[in-house]
Amino acid sequence: MMKFLVLAALLAVTAFAAENEVVWTLDHTNYSQIISQHKMIVVQFYAPWCGYCQQLEPKYEEAASVLSNHDPPVILAKMDTTILENAELARNYTINGVPSIKIFRHGGKTVHDYKGTRETEGIIAYLKKHGGPASLEIKTEKDAATFIDEKKIVVAGIFPQLSLEKIINFTTLAEDLRVDYDFVHTLDAKLLPRGGLVDKPTIRLLKPYDELYADFEDFQIEAMQNFIEETSVPIMAILDDNPENQQFVNHFLHSPGDKVFLFLNFSTDLDAFKSKYYDLALSYKGKETNFLLGDAESGKKALQYFGLDTDQTPLIFVLTMGSTKYVQRHVQPDNLASWLKDCKDGKLKPYLKSQPIPEFNNETVKVVVAETLDDMVFNSGKDVLLEFYRLGCRYCEEFAPVLDEIAISFEKDPHVVIAKIDGTENDIPRDVFDVEGFPTLYLRSSTGSLSRFEGNRTKVAIIEFIQTNRGSPAFDFSISQTQIDQVKDEL
Ligand SMILES: *[C@@H]1O[C@H](CO)[C@@H](O)[C@H](O)[C@H]1NC(C)=O
Ligand SMILES: *[C@@H]1O[C@H](CO)[C@@H](O)[C@H](O)[C@H]1NC(C)=O
Ligand SMILES: *[C@@H]1O[C@H](CO)[C@@H](O)[C@H](O)[C@H]1NC(C)=O
Ligand SMILES: *[C@@H]1O[C@H](CO)[C@@H](O)[C@H](O)[C@H]1NC(C)=O
Ligand SMILES: *[C@@H]1O[C@H](CO)[C@@H](O)[C@H](O)[C@H]1NC(C)=O
Ligand SMILES: *[C@@H]1O[C@H](CO)[C@@H](O)[C@H](O)[C@H]1NC(C)=O
Repeated sequence: MMKFLVLAALLAVTAFAAENEVVWTLDHTNYSQIISQHKMIVVQFYAPWCGYCQQLEPKYEEAASVLSNHDPPVILAKMDTTILENAELARNYTINGVPSIKIFRHGGKTVHDYKGTRETEGIIAYLKKHGGPASLEIKTEKDAATFIDEKKIVVAGIFPQLSLEKIINFTTLAEDLRVDYDFVHTLDAKLLPRGGLVDKPTIRLLKPYDELYADFEDFQIEAMQNFIEETSVPIMAILDDNPENQQFVNHFLHSPGDKVFLFLNFSTDLDAFKSKYYDLALSYKGKETNFLLGDAESGKKALQYFGLDTDQTPLIFVLTMGSTKYVQRHVQPDNLASWLKDCKDGKLKPYLKSQPIPEFNNETVKVVVAETLDDMVFNSGKDVLLEFYRLGCRYCEEFAPVLDEIAISFEKDPHVVIAKIDGTENDIPRDVFDVEGFPTLYLRSSTGSLSRFEGNRTKVAIIEFIQTNRGSPAFDFSISQTQIDQVKDEL
């Protein structure tokens, strides 16, 4: 029975291949069937109108024709996502743009993103590697030199004794993580570039930084996976213009835990800081704290994003798991450790990205910035209508004259303040205000209640909203009512 199924699958393969297309065309009618019959198949999701897809097409075809002669052959396919039923299928694989290439393995049980280049040679090299075994066996020193890239993380399974279950677990893990790490296995630890001999099955992670390798003996799949993920995070990630460091920066950004950034001018300050910062990072190992050492020039955009600037370096910056920020500008190497300790002990004042406090705030619509939010909104004892806006946002510009008119209507009411805050240049307490687009309007009443305005942004509707939700008694309700009636008459 088993043989028959395999044979049927083989015959099916021949039948498809007989169509003589190098790149197979899949659609919703045959997609699941074809994927389920293959150990590995590569699918490009595309749209006929997309320029990048058109550029990719001849390269993808050429790669497909080379790879069809590879042993074992690698099948390249494509699916047009502009056909409605196909698009529904594609949606299941979080395809955010076209072209998007996915690798389906084991009949579609595992799906990985293609992470190679879009050039013919790059596609071929990447898929050859990923079409082969997940882990390569090292039998000679030459194998070791060929398969182990000294600049990358390589996970080696060392099996001085035969243990079938451990080998199976290692292979399963290699299949799951092959896109992210290189895997090798050997019977003889002596062939590996680093680490001593072992007499038990061992996993050895080789890495080009920190302690250079680490051994592990537990072959439970989850345990191995944790070991690899934890051990591959560098004690400190380096952000500079070397693209090889980028993967560690990404790792740093995606790791759970508090994040510590030290930004310096590498050409002048690196020597004074590097070893002290490294020691600091080492002392927090295993304490859910990740460290990055960044060159000010390479980190310019990140600094700006947080409202900081390269001329404030050397600068240490902490972003906690709860998104609280702390900063010390112009820090000295000898103060790093004590500053971080104070930060962890909760002794420092959190840092808020804020525009400068305006020198004059005498317009009818008051300007609030992050640093004045407490004073002007939360502790003012007034009913504050606060607009969150963004410069250049069309709806905000359209709304500005309406807000002005509202502010003028309330000019004589000492209990009501109409204000605005630039929501991109100031940190907004996200646990208080739900601001997803601009403009967003909130009323913080003098009695402490918070209401979000959900209606149409007309003068009438907003004045009514303020009157309904305010905490203070209306200044002179008859006037307010007259105002409303007046506006209504105007409409
Ligand atoms: C899948 O079906 C489409 C539409 O019928 C057809 O054009 C395509 O050749 C089929 N693909 C394969 C590999 O059989
Ligand atoms: C998408 O995935 C879901 C859950 O696995 C499945 O039920 C559904 O049929 C899939 N949709 C398509 C169009 O294949
Ligand atoms: C293999 O992995 C499974 C799943 O993690 C685990 O239950 C089993 O103990 C592992 N086998 C060995 C020999 O470690
Ligand atoms: C770093 O220092 C060098 C030498 O003083 C200077 O030329 C360069 O502009 C500095 N870079 C930054 C980002 O300040
Ligand atoms: C605000 O005050 C400044 C300084 O006194 C003055 O120059 C400016 O004209 C005032 N603006 C308004 C709208 O009153
Ligand atoms: C907002 O205006 C639109 C169009 O004028 C209307 O259909 C809608 O009901 C209004 N929504 C509210 C909450 O008043």
